[in-house]
Parts: sequence; C-alpha cells; structure tokens
Amino acid sequence: MKKRLLLTRRLPDEIHRRAARDYDAVLNPEDKLYSTEELVALSAKFDAFLICLTDKLPRSAIERLDPRLKVISTFSVGYEHVDALAARAHGIPVGNAPNGVTIATAEIAMLLMLGATRRAPEGERMIAAREWTGWTPMQLLGRRLDGKRLGIFGYGKIGQAVARRARAFDMEIHYHSRSRRPASEEQGAIYHPTLEGLLAHSDVLSINAPSSPETRHIIDARRLSLLPKGAVVINTARGDLVADGDLIDALKSGQVGYAGLDVFEGEPKHHPGYLELDNVFLLPHMGTSAIEARIEMGNEALDNIDACFAGRKLPHGVN
Ligand code: DGY
Repeated sequence: MKKRLLLTRRLPDEIHRRAARDYDAVLNPEDKLYSTEELVALSAKFDAFLICLTDKLPRSAIERLDPRLKVISTFSVGYEHVDALAARAHGIPVGNAPNGVTIATAEIAMLLMLGATRRAPEGERMIAAREWTGWTPMQLLGRRLDGKRLGIFGYGKIGQAVARRARAFDMEIHYHSRSRRPASEEQGAIYHPTLEGLLAHSDVLSINAPSSPETRHIIDARRLSLLPKGAVVINTARGDLVADGDLIDALKSGQVGYAGLDVFEGEPKHHPGYLELDNVFLLPHMGTSAIEARIEMGNEALDNIDACFAGRKLPHGVN
C-alpha cells in the first residue's frame, strides 16, 4: 500500500505528478496555510510531510507528533522552521532541499546588488509616479561594481555562486565563514577569520549565512559601523540576521548607502521604517522563485522521503 504523504503547499505540477504517482498524496491546490496545531493533528493520518518554510514545527509541536509520521522533508535549504534536533530525539529524520536553491538565490543577490548600486528602484519609482521629466547628466547617479570589494558572509553553495557571478563583474571577493574553504572553493577569494574583519573590507556586503540562534541580529549597529561609509548591504538569507532598526538608522545616516533585501524578520511583515526610505530595494522573498529552482527543490524534498521509505539514509538529511 502506498504511503500517505501531505504536501503542505501548492508546488509545481511536476512535483504534484511525482508525489501522486508514488504516494497516496494529499496536495494543496488552494495553497492554504496549515497551522502548527493542524499539522500536529494531521501527523496521525500521514506517513510523511513535505513542508515549506512557512510551516512552523517547534520542539513543542515535534514532541506531540504522532508515531505514524516517519519523515519530514522541507522544500527549502533553510530549516530553522523545524526543530531538527527535537525531531531526531523523537526519532523523525528531517531532510531539506540544499541544491536547487543555489543559482536562483545567487541571481537574486546579483539583481539586488545591481539594483542597489545603480539605484534602479528609485528610477522605477520615478517612472511609476510619472515624475520623470527627462535625461539629465546627474540624475540618479549610482556606482559601478567593478573594482569594488564584495564581502560574502557565509561561503556555502549560495555564497560561492554569488562570488562566481560577481567575478564576472570584476569585483574583488572577500568572505567569512566558520572555517576557511579549500582553494578550489575560494577561487582566489580572500578569507577573513572574523566577521568584523570582513565588514571592514566590504564595499558591498552579501549575507548568505543560515539563520540560527548565533546569527540572530548579528548585523547590528556595532557591526554596521565597521563597514566603509556608504557600503551596500544585500540580504538573501534570512531576515533575522539583521537588526532592522539598526540597519534603518544606518541607511538614514548614510553609513549604509543602500540595502537590497529579499528577506525580512517575521515576514511577510517587515519593519515599516524601510518603506520610509528611498535607498532600499525590497523584494518579497523571491530568491528561489524560478521554476527550475522550484522543480529541483521539490525533487530533492521527495528524494528524502523516497529514501526514508526505502530504508536508506536521507540524501539531504539535516539531523
Ligand atoms: C530556502 O530554501 O530556504 C529559501 O529561502 C526558499 O526560498
């Protein structure tokens, strides 16, 4: 008999077809959000959950999951929304989708970087507001990327994909991660053993580190003050790495010249202060919203579930 699988959100048709072929799958064509309590209750009716970052499974929920539920796989590389350690203690393997996100997220980082340094959002807003009166030599002057130092905080797959793209724009790549990467991954990038050291060398800062208790609000007033004046801050990782009030103050004072943000703490809510500013480029968490990425992410998430029921280790296990 086929295992029962719950897909908590609407996913691409390709993923629906594979899930329905291999499982007694319950899809969510209307894309309604399940609450944590609903998921706890549904665990008695399903063998597997394919969840998304919008589904919250903290320890208090994990501990109440029904023994019928054998595996949780998330359609995301980030898995801060599910307490993976508690799941391990509860005997439930958790997997993520670590590869499909890479290129699409790096592209959005480049989009934000270009948009911020060349002030594209202000230009777009000027036309939308019917305020453009014609070309002038000094209108919306931004800065080029070539020769600028790009500081990448978090040099995993996405950070490295950002570096590859930024090299084509003749940027000088610097990075900080917990440990130095082998030369094959560095590709000439300059390692800084501390985040503080990286910040002092970042004309553009790209945040690509995961969300964790250690990284929460790590980009705060003190660290922002270490950036060269007028630096650009790009965040395609998670909103909670940034202390919003501090970044808004830095954007107002000019310490930070521009911010390009795809993610927000507590999203879809976001700090209202951002909307008062001109020097921001804000996107609604679109890092992976490319169809190729979403199909690959869905396949990776399903691979975890297949492996669990085949008695194998999850290919993308996180606990
Ligand atoms: C992820 O995979 O964690 C992304 O944020 C989803 O867009």
